[in-house]
Amino acid sequence: MEGTTTMNRRFACTTGDLDPGESMTVPGDVKVALHRTEDGEFFATADSCSHEEWSLGEDSDLEDDEVICPLHMARFNLRTGEPTCFPATIALQTFEVVVDGDDVYVVA
Ligand code: FES
Repeated sequence: MEGTTTMNRRFACTTGDLDPGESMTVPGDVKVALHRTEDGEFFATADSCSHEEWSLGEDSDLEDDEVICPLHMARFNLRTGEPTCFPATIALQTFEVVVDGDDVYVVA
């Protein structure tokens, strides 16, 4: 059906591949940034910052439950994707993360 996108569960990495406080880009049709907070929790957002083009998977900082884009210091809530400060005003798309044993998947 036109306008309908199908979400697929996609293998991202193993739990040992991503240290707490780090992010990575998961390649695919929809590029996803996978983040692991200092608490060890996984979150997935759109890879590109919503302000300008910048890969949050390749270069970003995590603080509590926020991801910070280093280009102009926009911050986003990892749970909702909502920006929490300027210059970003558009939310990041968020994606479900499934941890199955040692394997981490994103649904995107
Ligand atoms: S590109 Fe991310 S804050 Fe500007």
